[in-house]
Amino acid sequence: MAWTKALIWLSCLLVLLSMSLAEGIGINWGTMASHPLQPLVVVQLLKDNGIKKVKLFDSDHWTVSAFANSNIEVTIAIPNDQLSRFSDDYGNAKDWVKENVTSHLKNPGGVKIKYVGVGNEPFLKSYNGSFMKSTFPALKNIQKALDEAGHGDEIKATIPLNADVYESSTDKPSGGSFRSDIKTLMTDIVHFLHNNKAPFLVNIYPFLSLYLNPNFPINFAFFEGADKPIQDNNIQYTNVFDANYDTLVWSLKNAGVPDLKIVVGEVGWPTDGDKHGTIELAQKWYSGFMKKMASEKGTPLRPGPLDVYLFGLVDENMKSIAPGSFERHWGIFRYDGKPKFPLDLSGNGHEIELVPAKGVLYLPSQWCVFDKSATNLKDVPANMNYACSLADCTPLGFGSSCNNLDNYGNMSYAFNMYYQMQDQDVEACNFQGLAKLTKQNPSTGHCVFPIEIMSSGERLKFLHVTSALLLLLIVAILM
Ligand SMILES: *[C@@H]1O[C@H](CO)[C@@H](O)[C@H](O)[C@H]1NC(C)=O
Ligand SMILES: *[C@@H]1O[C@H](CO)[C@@H](O)[C@H](O)[C@H]1NC(C)=O
Ligand SMILES: *[C@@H]1O[C@H](CO)[C@@H](O)[C@H](O)[C@H]1NC(C)=O
Repeated sequence: MAWTKALIWLSCLLVLLSMSLAEGIGINWGTMASHPLQPLVVVQLLKDNGIKKVKLFDSDHWTVSAFANSNIEVTIAIPNDQLSRFSDDYGNAKDWVKENVTSHLKNPGGVKIKYVGVGNEPFLKSYNGSFMKSTFPALKNIQKALDEAGHGDEIKATIPLNADVYESSTDKPSGGSFRSDIKTLMTDIVHFLHNNKAPFLVNIYPFLSLYLNPNFPINFAFFEGADKPIQDNNIQYTNVFDANYDTLVWSLKNAGVPDLKIVVGEVGWPTDGDKHGTIELAQKWYSGFMKKMASEKGTPLRPGPLDVYLFGLVDENMKSIAPGSFERHWGIFRYDGKPKFPLDLSGNGHEIELVPAKGVLYLPSQWCVFDKSATNLKDVPANMNYACSLADCTPLGFGSSCNNLDNYGNMSYAFNMYYQMQDQDVEACNFQGLAKLTKQNPSTGHCVFPIEIMSSGERLKFLHVTSALLLLLIVAILM
């Protein structure tokens, strides 16, 4: 008897444990790619890897609908350039909620919308205050529209903010407060969030701490102890994630809302485009971070499970590289949904291959490369510039995966990226006679010459052609 009881207790405990772990991990899915994965492919990819929460950057109807019936929690968002529409006019907020929230909420079988992200890092210093006036009024209007539509209890509006909205006067967490130029605004916002039981959504980037500061002690970015820990009164910080997170905790305390819920909206490590943006370091960072998540230790000031969305799901080859070449390489999966490195998302440390995306259709196995018989070499720079201004050549840069190519390799890489992005259009592999097609894979070692996947349009064409052929076949058989 006692045995069975113990067993039942044990299984309850295990179920609870696995639940809390699974609930902890979410992921961002950005679609600034020339060939984004199909929404239903992504839903399956998340399910196969036990990821139960996703954060999107807009509210595209087709994409959001794909999450119906999936049991995956979805955060939808309003891009910065739309904020003024909602700050100026409550009617727009009402319409937005009706079309982009209410219409998805069937019970049962609807989309589990959890948060609405109002803007995306709107107070970044580099935006020069462009969204300072519109963000908070837009937040208020969206929350009001959610409340009036009867969704306010389950769905909260919040603002995904970069960690640069707070700073520390002492370089220690305890010196934390909101940035001086937005202190009043941030104080009003956090009180509003608090009154609405909405969380503070913050993006924390240990990689950027390292990238932006050449003197940053590298092991402080990871989770294996630090040579130079930060001693803050009686607390010792051995990694920048905890230190940054607790700087926010102090900032909230100073703003009068010490218990405001914190959700990490983005955190991750890129795999290319910088000397520290490598698969090896990304794997090391993720492995340490997932173990930290599993331990449920939280941070010194907020012990307990962390609520986190990783950044991100897949690479995005159309993202601006103004912040750095690494911007297009944040995925734990490649552009085609193949995992880049083994990773145990449960944090148990048994690094396993993630499950790749299923049902991805590729263009034919062919590449566009430099034609060594070409003689008009003076046209090379202009053609390479053209290719790289439209397609992604960031893997060629210093410290990146294709940086060791020779001159020919460089040209081939650029030509191929352009050709693939143009859906392997024959016209896109000309470059004034400098390029030719090949069936031989030019990839070497770490440097991958990718084959693009079928875009939505191509895929439809493909499906039509196959169904037409099938129909012909059936007709032929019948006759
Ligand atoms: C709903 O969201 C989509 C995609 O973000 C947007 O284009 C559309 O304008 C929104 N609808 C309303 C009524 O605002
Ligand atoms: C912000 O100001 C700087 C310097 O004046 C300028 O170079 C940059 O383009 C501005 N950015 C935006 C988003 O307006
Ligand atoms: C290839 O291109 C990259 C990026 O433009 C450059 O840094 C590198 O020096 C080039 N390599 C050769 C051999 O030209």
